[in-house]
Amino acid sequence: MIVNTELEHKGNLFPSKIIDFKKDVDTLYFSTDNDVVLQLTVVRDSVLRFRYTTIGSFGNDFSYAITKYASTGYNKLEIEEKKGHYEITTSKLRCEISKESLRVSIYDVKDNALINQDESGFHWEENYQHGGNIVKMSKVSNDGESYYGLGDKPNHLSLRGKRYTNWVTDSYAYGKDTDPIYKAIPFYTGLHSGKAYGIFFDNTFQTSFDFATERRNVTSFWAQGGEMNYYFFYGPRMNQVVESYTDLTGKPHLLPPLWALGFHQCKWSYYPESKVKDITSTFRKLQIPCDAIYLDIDYMEGFRCFTWDKNHFPDPKRMVDELAADGFKTVVIIDPGIKIDKDYSVFKEALDKDYFCKRADGDYMKGKVWPGECYFPDFTNPEVREWWSGLFKELIEKVGVKGVWNDMNEPAVMEVPNKTFPDDVRHDYDGNPCSHRKAHNIYGMQMARATYQGVKRYSYPKRPFVITRAAYSGTQRYTSTWTGDNVATWEHLWIANIQAQRMAMSGFGFVGSDIGGFAEQPQGELFTRWIQLGIFHPFFRVHSSGDHGDQEPWAFGEDVTEIVKKFIEIRYQLLPYLYTAFWNYVDHGTPLLKSLVLFDQDDVHTHYRTDEFIFGEQILACPVLEPNAKGRRMYVPKGNWYNFWNDEVIKGGKEMWVDADIDSMPIFIKEGAIIPKYPVQQYVGEKEIKEITLDVYYKEGKEESELYSDANDGYDYTKGRYSLRNFTLTGRTNELIISQYKEGKFVTPYDTFNIQLHGLPFDIVEVQLDNEKIDPKSLKVNGIESIVVDKNFSELHILGKELKS
Ligand code: GLC
Repeated sequence: MIVNTELEHKGNLFPSKIIDFKKDVDTLYFSTDNDVVLQLTVVRDSVLRFRYTTIGSFGNDFSYAITKYASTGYNKLEIEEKKGHYEITTSKLRCEISKESLRVSIYDVKDNALINQDESGFHWEENYQHGGNIVKMSKVSNDGESYYGLGDKPNHLSLRGKRYTNWVTDSYAYGKDTDPIYKAIPFYTGLHSGKAYGIFFDNTFQTSFDFATERRNVTSFWAQGGEMNYYFFYGPRMNQVVESYTDLTGKPHLLPPLWALGFHQCKWSYYPESKVKDITSTFRKLQIPCDAIYLDIDYMEGFRCFTWDKNHFPDPKRMVDELAADGFKTVVIIDPGIKIDKDYSVFKEALDKDYFCKRADGDYMKGKVWPGECYFPDFTNPEVREWWSGLFKELIEKVGVKGVWNDMNEPAVMEVPNKTFPDDVRHDYDGNPCSHRKAHNIYGMQMARATYQGVKRYSYPKRPFVITRAAYSGTQRYTSTWTGDNVATWEHLWIANIQAQRMAMSGFGFVGSDIGGFAEQPQGELFTRWIQLGIFHPFFRVHSSGDHGDQEPWAFGEDVTEIVKKFIEIRYQLLPYLYTAFWNYVDHGTPLLKSLVLFDQDDVHTHYRTDEFIFGEQILACPVLEPNAKGRRMYVPKGNWYNFWNDEVIKGGKEMWVDADIDSMPIFIKEGAIIPKYPVQQYVGEKEIKEITLDVYYKEGKEESELYSDANDGYDYTKGRYSLRNFTLTGRTNELIISQYKEGKFVTPYDTFNIQLHGLPFDIVEVQLDNEKIDPKSLKVNGIESIVVDKNFSELHILGKELKS
């Protein structure tokens, strides 16, 4: 019997009282007289791990989610035995463990505020069918507590009052209420009394979360097998929680090549070669920037991975080279199902080497996917991953493909009711043999990991680019992702916005949706509004299924083409800004997109907002989500913001109407920001960029901004050859000072900054560059004050005379 509720109390078992306590450096063991042991590890002062067994001892401690680079170490660890409980204190937290019930309460050590508390705490039910336990945890849910995270769930950002399951599932044309879909990210953030904490339930079996649904004051989570094993992260800021989780499960190992942040055009399927060339040459003819072109399953010979259909693509290397000469990087799809065909070398080799997954009784796991009957490599076996990565040699090294797209890796199986492998399929699980019940949620992750290893090896010295559909926590280390088979409806535009924000606050920043919708065909207006949102998604790709008409930027008439082009150009201008945000993500785990609650948790108005978000650090965007709109109402967070289109300054902290006809969308820049911009290019690297524009938005007061640059590809940046410029803007009524502090050894190709001054409240009377007066004449370009300076300036001082207005 599958237990679908934490509350089915009939068979629930609970720990009894603590009879023994041991300490081993950073780990404490509390044993009860019914063989329950709680293993509590202090990972950091603000990160605790709770792990429970019901049989007196623990099995092998292995996780695919946790990175070996996770930060560990604490400043303080004290343990005291009190009358009714044990008390563990770090420099950030105090944790009490009840002697009577093993229940846990966690406090902020500074002000004694209760952050999180067990309700029933750990309990379990024996699983007679499969063995082991259904392990459960229930926590008190406070009045006004809200919850966020959990990966790609397609409904409202706030999780309160919802119940979700994690079981990665191929979900063609899913809707707002479909659950589960493609990803399993069992991590959430809770926020109450102004403080945020997070919980990551690192269990790969099917897990469920109930956020105060079954009982108003209880939040619980449980798994169909495995251990109750969770990490607790304390903020108190929400971004600290997300950064701690990302630190533990891993930031991307490398920055993406800059081209991967450009625009990608995809369809199922562009073939033959002449069709591909038609598409790419139309981009160039219409001067619509584009960096990547995709080949979906039809490029293969009978859908056999690592082969080419020679009728449609007679000379793949020549084609890929020609596309590259025109600035296009070719990305190809690779699925896990390997066609059963004795004459197909990949199949033969995997069969000979015994690399395919098997059923419990020894038969192969056979299932139907695009090529017909297939077997599936066991990517949880390190030897299989190594073999798989070697298969990319020809594709990457010889043919010159620049990126690989992993799909159907839930794994998806057609024409069976559960859409995937049966539970009894066996997996190696890196030397911890198990059934599919345990390996299902990480199968796609391990495939993407093996693909990443191969693409990385053969792309060297360039950086790899991989995209996956299925994911578990930690998959962000290897690959980007998209949100699967959505639909060309306005509701799906809303969903895409939610999913990208939710993924970002679940540690997975390199994300985007199938722009325009995968199933069905959008009207030009919907396509336009989706592109507008898409320019703010780290992964920016149009994709659609083959049978619903064209979906290129020019497929909807000239008016649409023009607007879409304008927005893609804005994306290309913002590349240095996005790249800087990406660097912050890779370096500190800083979320690339910030939902308003993550941006300003102290303002309760942000807690239930869904549509508005911050792109990077300083740009506020809000898509228009309805047809025939001339604008929309939106909540502008506290502070002063410049309207991107007309520099009008508005005071936030309220909901307001913002004009945004079809050729516009609400975009605001944080007062004081310095936004770096490239000139428009048709693809990354088209031009040698000698000058970067810095859009400077005056503020009375101080604001910090950054600009990160490196060679845009390659590994040199990992050895210190990057350039990080920290700008401080200080504005007063009649002066503005911009100072710069530089780090890193990289010599940027740009020599100058074109500083464009927005919103200056005074007329300039004098400009000093590094204490020398320069000629302030000829400043105005298109009504905006503009000053060109050497990139290595230390201080730009602009003095003025107050405007009377
Ligand atoms: C799946 C993918 C989709 C792809 C199609 C054919 O539906 O999600 O993106 O185009 O398979 O490969």
